[in-house]
Amino acid sequence: MTTTESKDLGAEELRARAAEALTRARARSDALTDAVDDEDLIRQHSKLMSPLVWDLAHIGSQEELWLVRDVGGREPLRPDIDDIYDAFQHARADRPALPLLSPAEARSYVREVRAKAFDVLERVPLGGRRLTEQAFAFGMVTQHEQQHDETMLATHQLRQGDPVLHAPEPPPARSGTLPAEVLVPGGAFTMGTSAEPWALDNERPAHEIAVDAYWMDTTPVTSGAYAGFLDSGGYDDERWWSPAGWAYRTENGITAPRFWKREQDGWWRTRFGVYERITAAEPVVHVSFFEAEAYAAWAGRRLPTEAEWEKAARFDPASGRSRRFPWGDEEPGAEHANLGQRHLRPAPAGAYPAGASPTGVHQLIGDVWEWTSTDLHGYPGFAAFPYQEYSEVFFGPEYKVLRGGSFGTDAAAIRGTFRNWDYPIRRQIFAGFRTARDAGPGEG
Ligand code: AVJ
Ligand code: FE
Repeated sequence: MTTTESKDLGAEELRARAAEALTRARARSDALTDAVDDEDLIRQHSKLMSPLVWDLAHIGSQEELWLVRDVGGREPLRPDIDDIYDAFQHARADRPALPLLSPAEARSYVREVRAKAFDVLERVPLGGRRLTEQAFAFGMVTQHEQQHDETMLATHQLRQGDPVLHAPEPPPARSGTLPAEVLVPGGAFTMGTSAEPWALDNERPAHEIAVDAYWMDTTPVTSGAYAGFLDSGGYDDERWWSPAGWAYRTENGITAPRFWKREQDGWWRTRFGVYERITAAEPVVHVSFFEAEAYAAWAGRRLPTEAEWEKAARFDPASGRSRRFPWGDEEPGAEHANLGQRHLRPAPAGAYPAGASPTGVHQLIGDVWEWTSTDLHGYPGFAAFPYQEYSEVFFGPEYKVLRGGSFGTDAAAIRGTFRNWDYPIRRQIFAGFRTARDAGPGEG
């Protein structure tokens, strides 16, 4: 085989992979928008969210911008709607009042953009510019669509009415009895990546960072454990809350996780239109950073830093290297993690023994996003790419980093280095947490 042929083969494989990822994302966007009628698509289900039809056309608009216009160098399809679907021009609360494309128009718009994007994918040389190397722009656009699909899933959770989404139950716990916490050794490890082809700018570059030894919860905090905090009066005890957290809890009348309700026989919650008793063994979800922080204080612990989270998720003490995922370098399979909306809830603690890290930490990927105590920041050597609005404009103390992805995150949009962020008051996202504590002298 000549060098040229093997290079072409690599490009063909990249094209096939990009096409498959884009097609899978679109099947999900279609399913999330076909599940409800037109009236539901244009309605704003919560001030925190866009109408679903905005997300759909915004997905197309970003794809047009990056794949059709920039990478493809093609003529704009709809320059007239750029402003409407620019997330920085209009806050979510104001989007319903915009002259949005109708559901039928939005559907045909995203179809037309996709046809052009596939044409670009077939013809454009992969390489020569950073956007096309390793088909990066196609990976970025795929992740963007999957991120908005998770956002649309959160809109579904906020929607009133009968259930329209259905999925099989997640696997049961199958790890036997797990220790409550595991020791992660101190020392330097490699955080972030310079090698992962579709890693976004904020995950780069790879750098060494030293972390002191610490104890990490083996699994995310469960709803059962969290109910213990509630039932012991934790929401009424200022001692456990930071000043900002206490102010937030008081001003907003926060008394339990979002969607929870106390009944005579215990805690119930609404989940995608189903009212049901909470599942004690399942990771708690729909808590703010402030609630997570208060729980940790009540438990005599703290939230992990972002570096601690990533070390637990990637560091292999045997080799000293950082893995792509807790279980190794292979892409996530159904045995590793609860991802991709395969299930409409987190799986019980201990449901994914095959997904555990070398140090024995479970369910770092999937189930629930995990709040960390770290503010979103750029790694040493950070360079915005391809646009500052992806992440750089969010750097600073207002945003806390979340890690690991949820049951609503697709495998294409998660890895050991992936960083998400949100305001510490937000809880409509599929966020939970685990806790940590410093190791004592002589430990680790
Ligand atoms: C990285 C998930 C915080 O949804 O606001 C979507 C991703 N950026 N469109 C978000 C994103 C532009 C972003 N998060
Ligand atoms: Fe977006």
